[in-house]
Amino acid sequence: MLKAGIIGYGYMGHFHYDKMLGFPEKVKPVAVYDIAEETRREAERKGMKIFDNIDDFLKEDMDLVVVATPNQWHAKYAVAAMNAGKNVMIEKPATMNVQEFEQIMECEKRTKKLFTVHQQRRHDVDYRIVVDMIQSGELGNVTTIESRVFGERGVCFGWRGDPEYGGGMLYDWGVHLIDQMLQLFKGQKVVRIQARLESVLTPAVDDYVEVVMEFDSGTYAKVYISTFVLEKLPRWFVFGDRGTLMLEDFSGTKGGARKIRQEVKGFDSVRGKKNLGPSRTMAPLAPECIEILELPQEEDESFVYWENLLDALENKKEPEVKSKEILRVMQIVDAAFEASKEKQVLEVNI
Ligand SMILES: NC(=O)c1ccc[n+]([C@@H]2O[C@H](COP(=O)([O-])OP(=O)(O)OC[C@H]3O[C@@H](n4cnc5c(N)ncnc54)[C@H](O)[C@@H]3O)[C@@H](O)[C@H]2O)c1
Repeated sequence: MLKAGIIGYGYMGHFHYDKMLGFPEKVKPVAVYDIAEETRREAERKGMKIFDNIDDFLKEDMDLVVVATPNQWHAKYAVAAMNAGKNVMIEKPATMNVQEFEQIMECEKRTKKLFTVHQQRRHDVDYRIVVDMIQSGELGNVTTIESRVFGERGVCFGWRGDPEYGGGMLYDWGVHLIDQMLQLFKGQKVVRIQARLESVLTPAVDDYVEVVMEFDSGTYAKVYISTFVLEKLPRWFVFGDRGTLMLEDFSGTKGGARKIRQEVKGFDSVRGKKNLGPSRTMAPLAPECIEILELPQEEDESFVYWENLLDALENKKEPEVKSKEILRVMQIVDAAFEASKEKQVLEVNI
């Protein structure tokens, strides 16, 4: 039985506690370190040993330490825990910048401890539909892919609105959407980055994010985040040169995919028809040219991240989310901050 400790028993601390309860034969949450007295008491009532001092916490017998504090503490606690001989999983964003992440990688290499980051959105249903549809080749060559998360509340609540804690939406949702794109086009380099980070309603941090990554294949991957949008745009839009995919939301059940039939070679089959709409170029294709594609049915994988993590710990395997992958995410984040500040397209090799 693996023993796990949690640093930061807030929203995500509870999420990880609950996940662990899903594997009662494999892992037991045994200890909590949190700066908030009330939160510690709650953990104590659940049978965990509580600590108000990080050094004492790290002396506990634990196979895994989960770091789920606000963002600016991740690097410090990850390094301290690995130096204390613990395997470590930290929340996203892994760190505030590449420099901090390199300190973690140095420590991981030196201590030979398992280190990983909670990028569980690689298992989201909507994302896996996009992956499957692109990999099936049905859409042809993907020229542009758009990934979008829009909210309505207009706020970055709590510490998320404070830059000192690593607030802002690039750190919050941005790292998930960037990680998904890098996984989707694994093996391709990002060669150019353009970004626009704005504070629309939350003064101190970015609550509107646009990041455009150009891969060396020529594919453009575009990420959009806003906390205040009252009309809908799709979660995903994929432009291929043979077809198009659109997913409305995270459910993966709303949306559709259509492609031009294999036997249709040109796009001139609308010629000679009436009712072409505003122009011949933009006229709809005749229905017989189009094939409606079924969206793949994806299983719920909300338990798989933890299953893989426990498997890696038990069997001394490499974790699913590797630090070399997260280094690339942090390189994109750093470049996006710079590109936005300088209002320039950056040439990169990431
Ligand atoms: N992977 C995901 O999908 C996902 C989703 C939400 C949040 N997160 C990440 O999880 C982390 C925590 O977010 P949250 O929403 O749970 O925040 P939260 O505010 O709900 O919880 C943070 C907890 O950390 C404690 N804390 C604060 N400073 C501390 C310190 N120095 N040492 C020890 N404990 C400290 C707080 O008392 C609180 O209990 C963030 O890094 C966030 O980006 C990830």
